[in-house]
Amino acid sequence: MFTDVLIIGTGISGLSFAIKLALNDPKISMVLISKDQVSEGNTKYAQGGIAVVSDFQKDSFQKHIKDTLIAGDGACDPEVVKFVVEEGKDRLEELINWGTQFDTQQENLHLVKEGGHSEKRVVHYKDHTGLHIQQALINKIKSFPNIKILENHTLVDLITDHHSSKKSNRCYGAYVISKEKESILKINAKITALCTGGNGSLYAHSTNPAIATGDGLGAAYRAKVHMDKLPYVQFHPTALFHQVNGNTFLITEAVRGAGAKLRNSLGERFMSKYDVRKELAPRDIVARAIQREIHKQKEKFVTLDCSDIDLETWEKRFPNIYETCLKLDINLPKDPIPVVPAAHYFCGGIQVNHKSESKLKGLYAIGECSSTGLHGANRLASNSLLEALVFSHRAALDVIIALKKTLPKKSFYEAIPEWIGDTYSNSVEIKEIRLLRLRLQEVMTNYLGIFKTTEGLKKADVEMFEIYKRVHEIYNQHKLTNGLCELRNMVSIAHLIIQQAQSITENKGVFYNQDYAK
Ligand code: SIN
Repeated sequence: MFTDVLIIGTGISGLSFAIKLALNDPKISMVLISKDQVSEGNTKYAQGGIAVVSDFQKDSFQKHIKDTLIAGDGACDPEVVKFVVEEGKDRLEELINWGTQFDTQQENLHLVKEGGHSEKRVVHYKDHTGLHIQQALINKIKSFPNIKILENHTLVDLITDHHSSKKSNRCYGAYVISKEKESILKINAKITALCTGGNGSLYAHSTNPAIATGDGLGAAYRAKVHMDKLPYVQFHPTALFHQVNGNTFLITEAVRGAGAKLRNSLGERFMSKYDVRKELAPRDIVARAIQREIHKQKEKFVTLDCSDIDLETWEKRFPNIYETCLKLDINLPKDPIPVVPAAHYFCGGIQVNHKSESKLKGLYAIGECSSTGLHGANRLASNSLLEALVFSHRAALDVIIALKKTLPKKSFYEAIPEWIGDTYSNSVEIKEIRLLRLRLQEVMTNYLGIFKTTEGLKKADVEMFEIYKRVHEIYNQHKLTNGLCELRNMVSIAHLIIQQAQSITENKGVFYNQDYAK
């Protein structure tokens, strides 16, 4: 297969990047691959919304910039923060023009406050903003005949100089699994964009879907693409303590924005001991405070006291959370919601420039899998969908120019070999894979959680190396399976996180080593 642009991942980054390119030039051919159904991925589960300055009477770009820099704890790139905040409003308007609705109040966008924000500025659609955006983008994308969508196709490896006769430090597409054909396809592309989202499955409890296994980062690692800030893993303070259909369920920060209070098992509202902003302090501070309270008590959770939020608000504003809690016999607003922190967002990733291009030419990384400099050491709530929109726009403008330049001819791509090695099987079951995945998650959860220690990082390093070696032995002996492909990526990223974490010498944002505590 040969295409102008190969886009891997179909969340807000991949879809909006493809739409932008198609609107600019209907002749650009695109292949969009989705590991599952096109609708599945992190975007779908984003409850909160998009942080954008829109009420200029009360809010300003300066305030949003300042909030982002404070949350990022001195590690953001100020230039990036400035342009992302300033460009947000135009990107939001485009999203609305493409068919996305947001809640309104008296004809203005309804704005809410989340942790670390000094003003109400998060636009949302009830409490399932991401799902709604995802559906609107999927509807829009179907109108472009130059975009081919391949569902159930998983990235295996990027195609680089290593697979070709050239030494030009370029990416030439990717090898991907086709589950339907039970084989590994070569997709050559002039431009490749990784929009593969997060890596939450590295942890036992995560707000991400199970398919968030860091496939883009794993492939980038093997292609020797530079990645940074990987150990800055953000834990969302308030995931529901009970699992819902075997998954961790998020209680959006907007619930705290609407007035919910955190209480420990003694019923004390504890956040004022930790920060003057109380429940609306940035996430790193709230997550650590909750974890400390849990360590001190018998119960393995704290509670969100929602009694100040009236029933009408629950039904209208948070219907998804209201219904989910009801099914678990939690009657809102009367009953408190038991909550715990859970792995949520990776602030680091593939290092990219202001146009989202990585150091490997022709390879772009957009959204959570990238490291743009926006989030620093701790992402401000609801800045992630904003980042995805701004960088997919900037990347699209850059790609339009890049496609007009002299790029390798089609014959060059044709000479690149097909996948070498064992192919893929849907039916082979390698029992050990499941056990190794659980062991990996246990190591990450025990030693790379909210609180780390130098000793714990050393233990994690030793244990992860054992898992790494075993996964590679299995990889060399078996046909590729979906589980093996995922685990190969997970173990590479876990290994890198541990390596980078050991070289960090001060606590910042979400990174907290107890041995460095003052
Ligand atoms: C939330 O709704 O609390 C999550 C949104 C985000 O992670 O920005």
